[in-house]
Amino acid sequence: MNKKIIVVGSSNTDMVVKVPHIPAPGETVMGSELLTIPGGKGANQAVGAARAGGDVVFIACVSDDTFGTDAIENYKKDGINTSFIKVKPGIHSGVALINVAEDGENSIAVAPGANSHLLPEDILKSREVFAEAGIVLVQLEIPLETVGAVAELAAELNIPMILNPAPGAKLPADILKKLSIITPNETEAALLTGTKEINDDSIPLMARDLYDMGIETVIITLGSRGVYLLNSTFQGYIPGYTVKAVDTTAAGDVFNGALASALSENKTIRQAIDFAQRAAAISVTRMGAQPSAPKLDEISGFRQAGGYNRKNN
Ligand code: RIB
Repeated sequence: MNKKIIVVGSSNTDMVVKVPHIPAPGETVMGSELLTIPGGKGANQAVGAARAGGDVVFIACVSDDTFGTDAIENYKKDGINTSFIKVKPGIHSGVALINVAEDGENSIAVAPGANSHLLPEDILKSREVFAEAGIVLVQLEIPLETVGAVAELAAELNIPMILNPAPGAKLPADILKKLSIITPNETEAALLTGTKEINDDSIPLMARDLYDMGIETVIITLGSRGVYLLNSTFQGYIPGYTVKAVDTTAAGDVFNGALASALSENKTIRQAIDFAQRAAAISVTRMGAQPSAPKLDEISGFRQAGGYNRKNN
């Protein structure tokens, strides 16, 4: 496999407030000072993959405002190839409004701005770099037609594509059948499969439904409970690592970035999942999206608190 990882997706600036609890509808809660933190599911995954040792090209769209220009500078600092980031003046760069509660849980509202201007034609323009890629990683904070164009090109060039279907959405079968790996959480898996009730019985069934849609590897992420994996050789739960959560924002993104990085190094799917679980566990112990993504040496050195270090096979 070529080692290059292409991440296609959103770039946001996260405006974060720490709150005692997530406000209920109609409720106002007094929070902390405002924190302005680099985020966006695409960017978090690109940074997560790069810090985990990956050779990353990030395809995105930002505006020429401060948020957009600062974001590009940050990606460069992480060694990410930013040549394919489109800069579209006259609009705003993506912004996310985030509440983080004391137990680490969050709520997020996104104003997509420039992210909505990443178009299928931008994907076609980057065909050359796709031809050099070993793996492609995409999420759903960009237009669906653009996700479709990525799936089309990846399938044509025979490059495995990981879709992290977040934020949750129903997707056309035509896109789903072109994927190699899908990484929904339980809610996203339920949306994709039309499942009404999520419980321990429905998780294997949702995974089977997605597998039957033509996706070789289904990984349903279950937060601190680990993941459910279904592929041609394994089906079952793989426990995660237990840590004290400070902020779960971007844990899924760090998982996906690290997963792509490990796969680009030709690790097996079980090895890649373990590596990604370690990366995600570290990330939830830290505040913020991109600042929480660990570097390769931290992931390799990660040990479960209490000295327990689960063996991988
Ligand atoms: O997955 C976390 C991300 O979702 C945040 O960084 C925010 O920007 C939203 O895109």
